[in-house]
Amino acid sequence: MSLVVTGIGELVTNDAALGEGPLGILRNAAIVVDGDSVAWVGSADSAPDADRRTDVAGRAVIPGFVDSHSHLVFAGDRADEFAARMAGQPYTGGGIARTVAATRAATDEELLSRLRSLVGEMRRQGTTTIEIKSGYGLDVEQEARLLRVARDVTSETTFLGAHVVPPEFASRRSDYVDLVTGEMLAACAPYARWADVFCEPASPHAFDGEESRTVLSAARAAGLGLRVHGNQLSAGPGVQLAVEFGAASVDHCTYLTDSDVAALAGGTTVATLLPGVEFSTRSPYPDARRLIEAGVTVALATDCNPGSCFTSSMPFVIALAVREMRMTPAEALWSATAGGALALRRDDIGRIGVGTRADLAVLEAPSYVHLAYRPGVPLASALTLQE
Ligand code: NIG
Ligand code: FE
Repeated sequence: MSLVVTGIGELVTNDAALGEGPLGILRNAAIVVDGDSVAWVGSADSAPDADRRTDVAGRAVIPGFVDSHSHLVFAGDRADEFAARMAGQPYTGGGIARTVAATRAATDEELLSRLRSLVGEMRRQGTTTIEIKSGYGLDVEQEARLLRVARDVTSETTFLGAHVVPPEFASRRSDYVDLVTGEMLAACAPYARWADVFCEPASPHAFDGEESRTVLSAARAAGLGLRVHGNQLSAGPGVQLAVEFGAASVDHCTYLTDSDVAALAGGTTVATLLPGVEFSTRSPYPDARRLIEAGVTVALATDCNPGSCFTSSMPFVIALAVREMRMTPAEALWSATAGGALALRRDDIGRIGVGTRADLAVLEAPSYVHLAYRPGVPLASALTLQE
């Protein structure tokens, strides 16, 4: 079944060879979709015919957002922690244990129903690819269960047994690292594409540089791609480890030294910024301009989770990136789409061209600039191709 989408007032392709500027913008454009992929892109005047037609009446169309960092499989609520932070409490990661207790007690059906509702929320805001981490189970069966549940909605699943040391292992941390890198990794690897570690010496709950190195080595040996939560609360060793291990992405990057920026510059490890976290923890924002000017590839993602940032909205993240981190609207859109695709090492998403996946978002607006210009307004939605 093929479909031609006409009347696209502004089409962002993210391919400079297809259109104007770095976002490869086409005006008065059309797209032909065949099955799951894009078969043709060009001017509406020369669009070929297809089985079905839909006209978007001058709206903008962009590649669907690639949310390359989320923690969507959980139970419980931590609104009280958010309220306490707004009254001055710092974020330390300590509340993760509360979500672990609630998640362990939930049934698969409860987890899946919450997950599906969050995924629906994301699609209604223009997101078409979602990476989802485990990390609220923290024992062998529970971590494998969370990944199996996540697999129902995405192939971009990440094993995060090394999220924090669970309370029952607080006095024997190295036993927990042994469990994560042994039995837990073996049980989880079949359901995961990636492994991640919360590398943060400033948090008593997370992992230091040596522990993180042990986790990354074992995950690499198990054939998983690597990602790192790094430099969220302090200028710790996360970025350097991510680069050394050839991780696809190091996420947060709130506190960076000059040598962190130099290590990332021109390399293949993407710096994924999560400004919703700084918003929701009242922390200083990462220095996006410093990274971009050094030649670092920057992605934007939500980090949607019940603790540090409970937004599912990539448009909100774009608005923060533009207003608070001084990214241009074009840089922010690119980072939320093509940047996210690079953070997941994917070349079939994050751009629109012949052969890419037909993951499109349509905006109730004439231009992508409105995503930041009209913050909080529900402009974006994933284009549903099947009726
Ligand atoms: O990316 N930093 C560690 N993990 C999450 C927060 C998880 C939570 O607080 O529940 C994050 O911010
Ligand atoms: Fe996270």
